[in-house]
Amino acid sequence: MIWEEVLAKFKELFGDEGDIRVYFAPGRVNMIGEHTDYNGGHVFPCALTIGTYGVARKRADKKLRFYSLNFEQLGVLESSIEGLKPEKEADWTNYPKGIIWAFGEKGMQVDCGMDLVLFGNIPNGSGLSSSASVEVLTGYILKDMFGFDVTNQDLALIGQFSENKFNGVNCGIMDQFAIAMGKAGHAIFLDTATLQYEYAPIKLENAKIVISCSNKKRGLGDSKYNERRAECESALAQIGEVIGINSLGDLTEEQFEQYKSSIKDDVCQKRAKHAVYENQRTIKAVAALQNNDLETFGKLMNESHVSLRDDYEVTGVELDTLVEEAWKVDGVIGSRMTGAGFGGCTVSIVKDDAVDRFIEQVGAAYEKKIGYAADFYVVEIGDGPSRLA
Ligand code: GLA
Repeated sequence: MIWEEVLAKFKELFGDEGDIRVYFAPGRVNMIGEHTDYNGGHVFPCALTIGTYGVARKRADKKLRFYSLNFEQLGVLESSIEGLKPEKEADWTNYPKGIIWAFGEKGMQVDCGMDLVLFGNIPNGSGLSSSASVEVLTGYILKDMFGFDVTNQDLALIGQFSENKFNGVNCGIMDQFAIAMGKAGHAIFLDTATLQYEYAPIKLENAKIVISCSNKKRGLGDSKYNERRAECESALAQIGEVIGINSLGDLTEEQFEQYKSSIKDDVCQKRAKHAVYENQRTIKAVAALQNNDLETFGKLMNESHVSLRDDYEVTGVELDTLVEEAWKVDGVIGSRMTGAGFGGCTVSIVKDDAVDRFIEQVGAAYEKKIGYAADFYVVEIGDGPSRLA
């Protein structure tokens, strides 16, 4: 059991007395609906059975002592619950600190410090939301240990607030929502304009979800993520002059084609096109899945990738190679980049009997072209956060 090892590390570092609790929060993969969540569109992510384990205990003073088994070289990092302020620092403790700060901003003061040991089995920086996983995990720990009256949906919103204001990344709600609200065997069809959602069972008979990790690291903060968001906002302001809408997610493809010339800048027009078409694709994909039409779902995944490559321009040679090689493999139902892009992972639906061939063929072609290896994970859809012990 992984958590028992994390607990053992906690006891070794911080002693075994007192009320020590063990928690887990998942990572997430988005099946379709990329870069739509800050455009008032739909997304279709699911929580994974891989994620972040956390062992925590309250302290009598105001100190915070944090340790991550993923960054052992950093040792124990000490700070305080007092004077936490939104600022850019380089280490991972910004995520738990940001959540403690965010609870305070929302009127829930954390009144004492804590010791916390984390271990994540999500590859860091892979686009499977290791950071949102730490955020939701920390929120869940605070809720449980300090008795704050918050729902899991609140934890998602607090996580996003912290990421936006403390960590300076203008992310949408998808990652934190998928993690906080995850349900085994289901993806979440979420309308990000209203936060209405529906669980959709993912019954892949004779097929698996395979994640291919490019091993090209990305950090959202230094990526072009915020720039894409600004481009969409500029497009919305321009098209909004000719048709009354609240977000790009309000537009059908036909309306977009009719009014797109009001977006003067070509780049912003392409970005908006992706946002509009991707939202409609997501709605169609979920309908296809409900009709047990996995083939159409896969085709829409492929179209999503093309749009992210050509119109949204967030893929890059690594992700394009993984996806284009995947498309060549017999038994692949659909394949696309997932998450913010600019490196990170792809998600593919692969028939059971093609999984080994997929890993072998895509892996070899990737290494030959890119010069280093990709990693492959056959994943399962898991639940949201929980207390394990
Ligand atoms: C990142 C962000 C999400 C979402 C995706 C792209 O994962 O955190 O809010 O915008 O990128 O779909």
